[in-house]
Amino acid sequence: MSSEKTLRELADENDVTIGAGVPARSFRQYPDDPTLAQTLKREFNAITTANALKMGPLRPERKVYDFDDADAIVNFGVENDMTVRGHTLLWHKQTPEWFLAWDYTDDQLEAFVRDHIHTVAGRYHDKVDVWDVVNEAVADDGSMRETMWYEAMGEAYLDKAFEWANDVAPNADLYYNDYEIASDNDKADAVYDLLQRLLDRGVPIDGVGIQMHSLPSYQHSREGPEAVGANIRRFKDLGLDVQVTEMDVAYGPDEEFDDRLEHQAQYYRDVLEACLDNGCDTLITWGVHDAGTWLQNRYDVTSDPLLFDENFNPKPAYDAIRDLLESRS
Ligand code: GLA
Repeated sequence: MSSEKTLRELADENDVTIGAGVPARSFRQYPDDPTLAQTLKREFNAITTANALKMGPLRPERKVYDFDDADAIVNFGVENDMTVRGHTLLWHKQTPEWFLAWDYTDDQLEAFVRDHIHTVAGRYHDKVDVWDVVNEAVADDGSMRETMWYEAMGEAYLDKAFEWANDVAPNADLYYNDYEIASDNDKADAVYDLLQRLLDRGVPIDGVGIQMHSLPSYQHSREGPEAVGANIRRFKDLGLDVQVTEMDVAYGPDEEFDDRLEHQAQYYRDVLEACLDNGCDTLITWGVHDAGTWLQNRYDVTSDPLLFDENFNPKPAYDAIRDLLESRS
């Protein structure tokens, strides 16, 4: 028989971190949307800024930062004694329009990135516990992604980004974060090699985030617990911490089956178990409830990938991970 304990209580008892990404626009309604806030603080012991700290939303103009949404999420996490994950200091997507139009030199870009990281990571130095410093530096074929950062600084941009974050947030854990690295595949191998090179060069990196968007188009993020566990283990063996940072579980239109929510529940449970059994202690879902998922209004996937339904009722996936933690308490 299951207890009345919440997911958060069971996570705390197990020294496990269970978190959720919060989209800026839904959180801005707080406290007019008390359900989101109540669910978050009752059920999760970690919180992630899903969009608010990306360069695009954060910097409406080159010299103007708008920290309102990010402050709201970060402060909510601090006030409610949650682990706060900052996402993300450097990503090639969701950059501002003015940035894309700016004709910078390599040196100007380097100075710009340094200032950005110093400003953002510095502002939250005593509030953000974990930073996704660099997001998605490796392309799908395993080559280094030819981003603006890579073109200006070469692979050393990662070294510099982690150093700059470490300058101003020495107590935060600094992560590299990417998708399709949940199992042994060419991209995961390339990320493994990149992390090895960073460590060999003495870069201050603490961990790797496995995004885990489990969708039909991301085949390597749908593999079984043995493959996922073995891959977590090899990253751990590099000496890095590993977290599952952006999990959601969706299906394609051809995959509609009657017990889809049970299948989803089992997959969440399998991934959490693979994580815990292999030395990873954190699972973050990319949103709280189905009405807030980034997968709304898409034709190619189901739009109910999270632990709570559109009315914040717990789903079988919630019960599945709660039961797993209870069985380990
Ligand atoms: C990537 C990014 C996230 C988010 C998701 C879904 O995984 O890291 O910030 O944008 O895509 O949109």
